[in-house]
Amino acid sequence: MTASEVRSLFAVASRPEVVSLAGGMPNISGLPMDVVGSLLNNLIEKRGLTALQYGSGQGDPRLREQICEVMSATGVRGHPDDVTVTVGSQQALDLVTRIFIDPGDVILAEAPSYVGALSTFRSYQAEVVHVEMDDEGLIPDRLREAIRAVNASGRRIKFLYTIPSYHNPAGVTLPAERRTEILRICRQEDLLIIEDDPYGLLGFDGEVPRAMRADDDEGVVYLGSFSKTFAPGFRVGWTLAPHAVREKLVLAAESSVLCPPTFSQLAVSEYLSGYDWRGQVKAFRELYRERRDAMLGALSDLMPEGTHWTHPSGGFYVWLTLPEGLDTKAMLPRAVTNRVAYVPGTAFYADGFGSRSMRLSYCYPTPERIREGVRRLAQVVEQEVELRTAFGASTSSRRPGLDAPAPDQS
Ligand SMILES: Cc1ncc(COP(=O)(O)O)c(C=O)c1O
Repeated sequence: MTASEVRSLFAVASRPEVVSLAGGMPNISGLPMDVVGSLLNNLIEKRGLTALQYGSGQGDPRLREQICEVMSATGVRGHPDDVTVTVGSQQALDLVTRIFIDPGDVILAEAPSYVGALSTFRSYQAEVVHVEMDDEGLIPDRLREAIRAVNASGRRIKFLYTIPSYHNPAGVTLPAERRTEILRICRQEDLLIIEDDPYGLLGFDGEVPRAMRADDDEGVVYLGSFSKTFAPGFRVGWTLAPHAVREKLVLAAESSVLCPPTFSQLAVSEYLSGYDWRGQVKAFRELYRERRDAMLGALSDLMPEGTHWTHPSGGFYVWLTLPEGLDTKAMLPRAVTNRVAYVPGTAFYADGFGSRSMRLSYCYPTPERIREGVRRLAQVVEQEVELRTAFGASTSSRRPGLDAPAPDQS
């Protein structure tokens, strides 16, 4: 295990003078704290003896029913028996990896992919093979090629890990036709899909993409979370898995935490039954859309030529790629000196690529701070471009796809 680039960044990025476009903290300032407060108070007064006691390893039965109702928004029809409550979807990633991976096994993942998943995969000594994406997410033909290449090398692929909706870090969303095609490929190849969907309800046009799990009960393990639609502090996520996998997940969960925290589960359950959570999700969408607009507007006003970026229709992130020859990791100290922070692209690759790219988060700062952050970042990029012109380009490792120059994107 090694510290991720994001981790070492947090200390610097949290200084008040720095505009942090680095962390992906949900913006819970819009939550009705009075409602949450009285809900927690009632919970202890009325059900304290249950809420403060150990619970079932699989998770609270009523919450598992409510989770099925939440998932129905994505087209998924799950049974509460197949749901396992986890300590955030991060624990779900850990459990899934633990039960499937032997050292040296291959996991296919998008290029780039979620840093927290990559570090979990690494800790179980899996080998991550990245599959190219474009502005519409994972490219089915590239997936076919990757499967063929890994099989030809004699290694074993255990699963495809994908974030089809409002991707972290790329900010792209897989269209319905590609979802169908990827499901078809994986079925043909007998390849399990781990579908990680913490942002699915946070689309800015109000439409919720149909989850891949909705069209395949047996071949997909679905991971969900209340971290982005309610609050991450409760640490409540879940898996919906085929029966045999679910049994193993519960055994693995019990051996690591005995049971997920009862207090948190009942708090989430009370929130779902006693509060207009759908209205709150709508309010979150508005809040994030305003910030996405601020970031895209500022990027297109201020970024120098040769820079390109994705245009998210939901979620928290923009993936930005700099002109040829620049290196976002090498540039970071200069950016922080100019009081702006981001996450260098290499954090989102298991193989050292992504050095020209960075992840920008718009979820947390105010629209004004976002604009100011982009202004500071644009200054640094301009200086880097001038330096490169004066001293020549350094070599940079990039892969095709999202990290390649795209002249049609500003
Ligand atoms: C794609 C993805 N998966 C999983 C997680 C983990 O979320 P949590 O453990 O809070 O549910 C995150 C958090 O940022 C994420 O972006």
